[in-house]
Amino acid sequence: MKRFVDLAELGVAQVRELSALATRLETRPEPQALAGKVLGLLFLNPSLRTLASCQSAMARLGGSSFVITPGQGTWQLEARDGVVMNGTAAEHIREGLPVLASYVDALGIRAFAGGQDLTADLADTRFNAMAALVDRPLINLESAVNHPCQALADWKTIDELPGTRRRKFVLSWVTHPRALPLAVPAATVHMAAMRGMDVVVLRPEGFALPTPIMERARHAAAACGGTVTETADREAALADAHVLYAKEWGSAARYGDERGEQELRQPLQDWCVRNDWFARAASDCVLMHCLPVRRNVAVADEVLDSPRSVVRRQAYNRLPAQMAILHRLLKP
Ligand code: CP
Repeated sequence: MKRFVDLAELGVAQVRELSALATRLETRPEPQALAGKVLGLLFLNPSLRTLASCQSAMARLGGSSFVITPGQGTWQLEARDGVVMNGTAAEHIREGLPVLASYVDALGIRAFAGGQDLTADLADTRFNAMAALVDRPLINLESAVNHPCQALADWKTIDELPGTRRRKFVLSWVTHPRALPLAVPAATVHMAAMRGMDVVVLRPEGFALPTPIMERARHAAAACGGTVTETADREAALADAHVLYAKEWGSAARYGDERGEQELRQPLQDWCVRNDWFARAASDCVLMHCLPVRRNVAVADEVLDSPRSVVRRQAYNRLPAQMAILHRLLKP
């Protein structure tokens, strides 16, 4: 494996192998596997789980890591081409990225969506511009429309659920004070489609996922024996559901339009997961969320604190998943 930027790039067999490797590394640690190796982590956006799990994973495999947060102790980075750099950014990614890459054995990059130009964000323009400058194994730590590390941890979390693997998976929009990126919903719908699940995207009017994301997921589902549908009918969507994956995201129809977005989401305060959402779901239906989650805005205390919630397990699984990714990229 040369890079880990998209589960779809790997295919189902390799994702299954990575999930199995993550489980193996939990039970049979390899504390010297990556001795002498160095991981660089470039975070253009905040993180708790991704940053901490990457550093912990590298240490547990015997390697080391460092974090660069541009503008916080290091130079601010300019990513635009052809600009006169007389503003706050002192360094261009054209120099900064190859320099960083030359110090490490693998580099992880987190670069969220710009949030203004949907076409550019759907093409993951910002992340891809940086990826093109890196001649080392690369890890996508969340880009505009992908979060493969989260998706692998979620894959493992679903592997751990009891019962059949062909289950009804509902990805539901939930509310948030402002628009959030499409990366996790895009990665999640694709992950569940690759598992061959019956995936339902539940969202209010105005919050349909962009067509390219849905089409790509439908294509994966067709190849893997599953389905991908969408609806605004909460009761129908949740009937017999085995997994409810709650996630906040912004409206593609009002992309970059803060006022329009607010108008759309203002009447949607009841899109907060409560116990009664599970009335017609399978009795063992679990609640997933990638975290961070705003309690009693996106998901109520009564659900997050109930046995249905596997959100902490998901977050824990970021660590063995990260170990598996690093092991596969860097173990000689
Ligand atoms: N789920 C996730 O990626 O969490 P962080 O943003 O804290 O890394």
